[in-house]
Amino acid sequence: MIRYLSLAIIMAIISVSCQPSVETNTPSDQTISDKVDSLMSLMTLTEKIGQTNMYNGTWEFTGPVPADNGSQEKAEQIKNGMVGAMINVLSAKATREAQKMAVENSRLGIPLLFGYDVIHGYKTMLPVPLAQAASWNESAARQGAEIAAREAASAGQHWTFSPMIDVSRDGRWGRIMESAGEDPYLSSVMARAWVQGYQGESLADPATIAACAKHFAAYGFAEAGRDYNTVDISDQTLFNVVFPPFKAAADAGVATFMNAFNEINGVPATGSTFLQRDILKGAWDFQGFMVSDWGSIGEMVTHGFARDNKHAAELAMNAGSDMDMESRAFERELEALITEGKVDVVALDDAVRRILKLKYELGLFEDPYRYCDEEREKNTLLARENLKGAREVAQKTMVLLKNEGNVLPLSKEVKSIAVIGQLAASKDIPLGNWRGQAVSNSAVSLLEGVQSALSTQSKVSFAEGYVLSKGTRDFIHELDIQPGNEDGFPEAIRLAKSSEVVIMALGEDCYQTGEGRSQADIGLKGNQQQLLMEILKVNKNVVVVLMNGRPLAIPEVMDQAPAIIEAWFAGSEAGNAIADVIFGDYNPSGKLPVSFPYHVGQEPLHYDRKNTGRPVTNEFDNGLVFWSHYTDAPTEALLPFGFGLSYSSFEYSYFSITPKEKGATITVEVTNSSNVAGTETVQVYVRDMVATVTQPIRRLVDFQQIEISAGETRKVTFDLSEQDFGFYHKNYQFYAEDGAFDVMVGGNSRDLLSMGVTLSF
Ligand code: NOJ
Repeated sequence: MIRYLSLAIIMAIISVSCQPSVETNTPSDQTISDKVDSLMSLMTLTEKIGQTNMYNGTWEFTGPVPADNGSQEKAEQIKNGMVGAMINVLSAKATREAQKMAVENSRLGIPLLFGYDVIHGYKTMLPVPLAQAASWNESAARQGAEIAAREAASAGQHWTFSPMIDVSRDGRWGRIMESAGEDPYLSSVMARAWVQGYQGESLADPATIAACAKHFAAYGFAEAGRDYNTVDISDQTLFNVVFPPFKAAADAGVATFMNAFNEINGVPATGSTFLQRDILKGAWDFQGFMVSDWGSIGEMVTHGFARDNKHAAELAMNAGSDMDMESRAFERELEALITEGKVDVVALDDAVRRILKLKYELGLFEDPYRYCDEEREKNTLLARENLKGAREVAQKTMVLLKNEGNVLPLSKEVKSIAVIGQLAASKDIPLGNWRGQAVSNSAVSLLEGVQSALSTQSKVSFAEGYVLSKGTRDFIHELDIQPGNEDGFPEAIRLAKSSEVVIMALGEDCYQTGEGRSQADIGLKGNQQQLLMEILKVNKNVVVVLMNGRPLAIPEVMDQAPAIIEAWFAGSEAGNAIADVIFGDYNPSGKLPVSFPYHVGQEPLHYDRKNTGRPVTNEFDNGLVFWSHYTDAPTEALLPFGFGLSYSSFEYSYFSITPKEKGATITVEVTNSSNVAGTETVQVYVRDMVATVTQPIRRLVDFQQIEISAGETRKVTFDLSEQDFGFYHKNYQFYAEDGAFDVMVGGNSRDLLSMGVTLSF
């Protein structure tokens, strides 16, 4: 009886206000808002509160499991309309079953929303987000997100908790791997691409999913790079460094935002009215909804900001958090808070309206099971074109860090190659952390990639060599300081000695990065470097392939190894994509999205620092004591932001600036002086020389990625506007100040042509 009642009500709502559904066209906002209003007029207070409640399924946990995680109780609540969304309910079949409980049992039959952390793929793994940012290529990032969305949608998912666009400047922070790195402009470009990739043209297209910009805000500024730690940050940094990627995501139409675990200047992000109501829903007019992070409402008690869960619910809802992920605070406390007048029902209505709007946009009221097609799931997951796409994206993420004597690319005629290192044979580590539903050990290893690139004429041998530290797997904390043993050294050295070339994989386990995986040491763990040095004694022809999810402090490796490729955790097709670069089937085009330090003590390290009154005057120190520098390490980066080589070589000349109304036009000529076609990323940086608030010594404002044939010269033009020369002042006021600017252009943030210009706005 209840079932027929709920279906009848839905049908009535649909027939009053709905036009015939066209799957890939989003109905007009007005139509949706009418539908939401009609539905809300039928809802009780309890049913409205139910929509703000998100539960974890019992399939997988991505946060601490609450003591009272009874699945029976959850099922009852779903049937009673007390659950609006679920996380970690996986597969078309499982989501269909859960959806059925909601749609066929609850009074109004409102469909559930299913969300999952699809961070760099669902089953086919793309490179980790930091790697994708290293492509500096919007269409590659979009392509990666499209593949992830297609697969996730086929497995019943409507919503991903991605992109993570926290500007990250501290290599110790494990979550730097999930980010687009240290720069607000590059992070904004990536944010837009990822949102567009996940959401496509229309959320009504069942091959797309809703995106979630997280973690709002400043989570990447955790003190000392320790995850979840306190954030104390100036308005200047918040407005000009932290906010831009989030604003870009909002402008790109991201459907949802997630707040953050951290406090900012004494106020937990989850309870921050300033962030959620004033900035996001106010200044940016964001129309989607804000989900809490896992348990972050309840954690405001531990922060010392809320007295208890009830007080936390009050603070979170009043501050603009719309959905509660796993704190059970809204579900248990909101009704009383509203009755007591501590939360205005208007705030709840606003939250519910935003949540229902997304459900309508996704087409869930037309067909709650449209993402639950097992046949589609079978045909989509790990489909050939997804793997092909993963390889294409991965190629673009590789960064060539060194190529002394043009060791690379290797000839496919090579007679013997020794592939060395536990990482090189791993079919698991390249999948990365936050690996969705990837099958363990399913990546193409580096060894396999090399083997399949070569004919049987080339002899490929393998030795494990070192023992890798194994990272924090299975959510169990262990101190990650294994010394390693040398048992594998003799075999590795023997093979290196008897081979023409050595390919040696170095880096970290994928579970050394990700949530809760901060590290105090970001050098190579164990005895990896020691083995490299032994191998270099017997064979100088060594190509190092780095696999890692953070910047590494590896000055000795940079100094000693003749050729180095930064391959990150490159996903399902890792080995093939790395081999494409090694053998020259792909000419590397990636650039670092983070500065690599000489020493962990330099962290947080970022290129867009300020000058201070006693600046660093050159790459190392200037020979004097009373200047800003370290006495036991260089001050500048080992490898600067934006750096990356190619098998081509590029020269910059004829740089010119023409001032124009409120801006300037920049031109530069870039010549490919080599005999191979290549791709260069031309970067433009700006410095405001004298300002009412001191400005960074350089700041990326634009870039273009261009292909240049061998011997060709291309003229590149950039139109810079007030947006590029200005910054946010007090009270979130944006404008540029008249006066002198330096404009710089080049292929990385250190080697730049520079020119002064005076501008007025
Ligand atoms: C906590 C993480 O901070 C967040 O990024 C993630 O989306 C949620 N857990 C859900 O797994």
